[in-house]
Amino acid sequence: MSAPFIMDHPLIQHKLSFLRDKNTGSKEFRELICEIAMLMCYEATRNLTLEEVEIETPICKTKTKVVAGKKLALVPILRAGLGMVDGVLKMVPAAKVGHIGLYRDPETKEPHEYYCKLPNDIASRDVIVLDPMLATGGSAIDAIRMLKQKGVSAIKFMCIIAAPEGLAALTKAHPDVQVYCAALDQCLNEHAYIVPGLGDAGDRIFGTK
Ligand code: PRP
Ligand code: URA
Repeated sequence: MSAPFIMDHPLIQHKLSFLRDKNTGSKEFRELICEIAMLMCYEATRNLTLEEVEIETPICKTKTKVVAGKKLALVPILRAGLGMVDGVLKMVPAAKVGHIGLYRDPETKEPHEYYCKLPNDIASRDVIVLDPMLATGGSAIDAIRMLKQKGVSAIKFMCIIAAPEGLAALTKAHPDVQVYCAALDQCLNEHAYIVPGLGDAGDRIFGTK
C-alpha cells in the first residue's frame, strides 16, 4: 500500500482556496477544477513509459523520447468527475475516456450505479479515475471495483479534496490503488460532507443549486 500523494504545490493550494470560497461562481469554479486537474496530472503521469525516437533538429539528427503507446484511459465519476477531464486531456490528449455514473443516496450515503461506458480495451490500459471529492469513499470504492471486474489492473485515483474517513476506506478496500489529492481535510459532517471542503462539487460545477 502506497501513502497518498498530497499535492501541496503552491499553485494548487492557491487555486484550491478560490475553489473552496462559497462566493466563487460556476464559471470560475469549472475553470479552477480544470486547472487543478491539469496541474495534478503532472504527478499522476510521472511513471508513463517513454520510448526512444530519432528526430532531426535544425542542427542535426538526434535520439529523443516520447510517451510510448497510447495506453492511458481517464474514467470520471459522473457528474463532478467530468470537471477534471479537460484539464487532464490537455496534457495527455491521446487518452481514451470512459464514464461511470454514480450518485450518493442522500439518506444512506450509499453510491448507486446508473451508467457505465468504458473503452473496449480498458483492461489493457492504465486508468486514472477522476472525482474531485473523496468523502465516505463509497463512490470511489465502487467505481474501482467496477473497473477491476472489467479486468483493469493498473488504477490510480485522483481527487481534489479527500476526507480522512474516505481515504482510509479506499486504501483498505483497494490497497493497490495510488491516491493523489490536493488536500486532506479535517472530517465529514453529519451529512457526510467534507469539512471544510467546498460543498457539493457537482452542483457547483453545473449550477444545479
Ligand atoms: C459526489 C462526488 C463523489 C461522491 C463522493 O457525487 O462527486 O462522486 O459524492 O462521496 P462519497 O465518497 O461519500 O461516495 P454525488 O453523488 O453528489 O453526485 P454528483 O457528482 O452527480 O453531484
Ligand atoms: N460530495 C460532494 O460533492 N461534496 C462533499 O463534501 C461530499 C460529497
